[in-house]
Amino acid sequence: MSGPELGRLIDEVDRTVDVQFAAVGDLDELNRLYASLLGRRGSLNALMKQLPGAAPEERKLLGQRLNAVKGRVERAREVATARIKRTARDLELSAPPLDITLPGRWRAPGRPHPIMRTLDEIVDIFVGLGFDVAEGPQIELARYNFDLLGFPADHPAMDMHDTFYVAGDPGQNVLLRTHTSPVQVREMLSHPPPVMIVAPGVVYRRDDDASHSPMFVQIEGLVVDRDVSLADLKGLLEVYSRRMFGENTKTRFRPSYFPFTEPSAELDVSCLVCFGENRACPQCKGTGWLEVLGCGMVHPTVLRNVGIDPEVYTGLAFGIGVDRTANMKFAVDDIRAFYENDVRFLGSL
Ligand code: PHE
Repeated sequence: MSGPELGRLIDEVDRTVDVQFAAVGDLDELNRLYASLLGRRGSLNALMKQLPGAAPEERKLLGQRLNAVKGRVERAREVATARIKRTARDLELSAPPLDITLPGRWRAPGRPHPIMRTLDEIVDIFVGLGFDVAEGPQIELARYNFDLLGFPADHPAMDMHDTFYVAGDPGQNVLLRTHTSPVQVREMLSHPPPVMIVAPGVVYRRDDDASHSPMFVQIEGLVVDRDVSLADLKGLLEVYSRRMFGENTKTRFRPSYFPFTEPSAELDVSCLVCFGENRACPQCKGTGWLEVLGCGMVHPTVLRNVGIDPEVYTGLAFGIGVDRTANMKFAVDDIRAFYENDVRFLGSL
């Protein structure tokens, strides 16, 4: 290519650079334009390669002019970049403002389940009286759940209809604990007296009706020491009942039977809803009393089974039905409602 021809092409680029850069609307377009001029395959590069074709005396000048055009391209790019960014920013600022008065999305705050709230309250009362908190496994040995507690081998509680045995265990040695009493055994086996614990936890039975759920919550209490008496048991549970249900609560001990306590009793408290005044009360069925727990003096056989001398030590024990207690506190009829996880119901308590 001759010198003058090359010169004419350089001039043409020179003349159009500013117009072309002024026309681009965004950064992508800008980069493409820049590459079409100064990229590896860009037109100014192509012209550069033509330089050796020009006459030697023209080359220096043509080279200088090419460099000047390159400089103009660089400057035009800077100007266009600033313009594009400014336009975008102006657009942003002139757009309708963010509406900060729009109410946020509401999320229901979670809180502990009513049964767990009831359990915490019970634990707090006993911890306040000096009890430690102990726990045991939900999958338990039949030995701890039944045998060491003195259940006779043919006791109906061990029947398949009452107990969930773990599958694949034909000997029925492993089960879902049917009560928290095996924690008594574990405590006494692992700690010498004095023992003073409560053991909260989930237990399982093959039961499912308005007053029984197959999974429910108990809290066990155990005190073993020298000279623990039936009077201690009654006094302790009276204090508990008044703290839990109110100072005016009356208590009544009814004789009962458990294989692991002797004597055994069930504790009723005066009805929280009608105070015995309403013969048609749905809560107490007009009896004026509500059953809250089973209790008794630890059977000497149980003490012997765990290596404690019943001539030296005596013990008291109780097992509180936490679901039943929550039922009473919240005046709910159907125990299963607690486990259906309907937040409209749970949130209303
Ligand atoms: N474990 C008994 C039950 O589940 C309750 C109980 C506990 C009774 C401790 C006496 C002493 O029915």
